[in-house]
Amino acid sequence: MILRKKFIAGNWKMNKTPADGAALVSEIVTEIGRQTDVDVLVCPPFTALESAGRNLEGSNVKLGAQNMHFELNGAFTGEVSAPMLRDLFVTHVILGHSERRALFGETDAMINQKVLTAIKNQLRPILCVGETLSEREAGDTLKVVQTQVEAGLEGVGKDQAPSVIIAYEPVWAIGTGKVATSDQAQEVHAFIRGLLTKLFGETIAQKVRILYGGSMKPSNAPELLAQKDIDGGLIGGASLESRSFVDLVKAAADAK
Ligand code: PGA
Repeated sequence: MILRKKFIAGNWKMNKTPADGAALVSEIVTEIGRQTDVDVLVCPPFTALESAGRNLEGSNVKLGAQNMHFELNGAFTGEVSAPMLRDLFVTHVILGHSERRALFGETDAMINQKVLTAIKNQLRPILCVGETLSEREAGDTLKVVQTQVEAGLEGVGKDQAPSVIIAYEPVWAIGTGKVATSDQAQEVHAFIRGLLTKLFGETIAQKVRILYGGSMKPSNAPELLAQKDIDGGLIGGASLESRSFVDLVKAAADAK
């Protein structure tokens, strides 16, 4: 059996100034900057990447962005490119978050272009997928997730697939305090693992980390992280404060 290292990623969304972000990172690094049991990532807003990155230096905590454009440069007012992120020592990028899909009109086709650009530029994509409440109630959860995974990964080669991370985030659980039950989450994670097996084969599918996101916090993390196909968490609200974020990293270390 392949042991996948657990992965805890903080998605700060549109929160934290450069100074606040640097301070939060310092607290996180002091507590868990040296541990190697869990892969840890923080994703500040663009404006705090540089200050947060400076305070991560020399630690094992990595730096991620929350979005990027699929072109490398040019007339795209308000956008940021993969080389710009790489220049700030960013290693990962969240793509296709449900807030980007719902509020900013991102389509599967655009997200796919971003995934391919990220990989080509040595950024590891965290591809977010997940159903809305009405889709779940209509019994469409697996169909929606299948479309998002297959469309998002179109054109990704077998050799590139292990660098991809998937985040399953049921939209109804994001920022609502309503966490998916561990059974609900495991069912979808196992389904995604099956899709990856069809796309890339068993060996590669067993290597890809699938994170859960949606109201994950220290109190509910142990049960979620104990599931066979839940390899970590993409954390919103609970990543904005060092205590809860550090406790989530510790929960992941214990779940290993
Ligand atoms: P939440 O957000 O933990 O605040 O629910 C998760 C996410 O949107 O990535």
